[in-house]
Amino acid sequence: MGQHPRHQHGGRDDRRRHRAREHAPVNPTDHFPRLSLGHFPTPIRRLHHLEQALGGGHLLLKRDDLAGFALAGNKTRPLEFLIADATSTGCDVVVGGGAPKSNFIAALAAAASVGGIACELLISGAALVDPPPTLRLAEASGARLTFTGGDREHLDEEIDARASALNRDGHHAYAVPRGGACAVGALGFASGASEIAGQGVPDNATIVLAVGSGSSVAGLNAGRGAIGANWQIIGVSVSRPLEEMRRHVTTLTRACTQLLEVAAPSDAVIVDASVPGMGTTTDAERMIVSLAYESEGLLFDPSYGAKALVEVQRLVRTGFERPIVLWHTGGLPSALSLLTTEKGA
Ligand SMILES: Cc1ncc(COP(=O)(O)O)c(C=O)c1O
Repeated sequence: MGQHPRHQHGGRDDRRRHRAREHAPVNPTDHFPRLSLGHFPTPIRRLHHLEQALGGGHLLLKRDDLAGFALAGNKTRPLEFLIADATSTGCDVVVGGGAPKSNFIAALAAAASVGGIACELLISGAALVDPPPTLRLAEASGARLTFTGGDREHLDEEIDARASALNRDGHHAYAVPRGGACAVGALGFASGASEIAGQGVPDNATIVLAVGSGSSVAGLNAGRGAIGANWQIIGVSVSRPLEEMRRHVTTLTRACTQLLEVAAPSDAVIVDASVPGMGTTTDAERMIVSLAYESEGLLFDPSYGAKALVEVQRLVRTGFERPIVLWHTGGLPSALSLLTTEKGA
């Protein structure tokens, strides 16, 4: 298969379509500046015990929880490109933001520190007496934290305004939207697409991953198109309303494909897991997370991993036979909160 897209569904010989690749395709992000932070490729392995516990399925786990950079998980990927872009364009400070429990803010602060660039973070809401681990990690990396008092929906505008103010003061500021959701950030998972192709993920696989800012799913789908892979991608939306999230992910995917100079792929499937709300956990989530811990020794966080895992369980219950790759995106700062002794597949 060529490096460039011309992505097609159907019309190809089945045996060829379902065969795992023998060689890694050319990585479409190879010519972009990149700061090495994580240990890539992250492992991928079959979950035989969880399959048994669920009573079926062909489950593979892509372990970005083992990306090996701080507790950044999947966010290591966009940050390798974002920090390299900032430093290679002469910037001296990155400005980002998020909610207090955002994994991305802790990851951004750590990446900026390692990349040798200052970091300013805007945190939604009022200052906290007892900051969560994510804020403590950000502070430990030397980031300057400012609480906005407002909600997180306005943070991207506030980040831009703060970057402009720093520029007026003679700095060269690099504004990073929430979650690293921009074309450069999405390069991280575009690179991840050629990584899993090189690890033998077959063309008939379905990939399931949690969606927050959209950076990961958009990049993965852009990368899938760029290397001509036929995987089905299911993004499990944990926050925004479904239609808004679909539009947002499509826009972000297009921005990334434009940067890569490849054609836009067909849209990823986005399913809704935003109810009952971010940070609110259902009994089904608690039980499947505990089952994954008991059967495989795996930890999943409540905001993202638990919701992706429930989607995998739903697919298995429908009798889904094709390989499912669950992309473990990390979230370890909050992963201990979910374990329960009640089980149920
Ligand atoms: C643990 C974890 N998983 C998944 C996501 C969602 O990734 P994205 O923001 O790229 O959609 C995030 C976002 O912060 C995260 O922290």
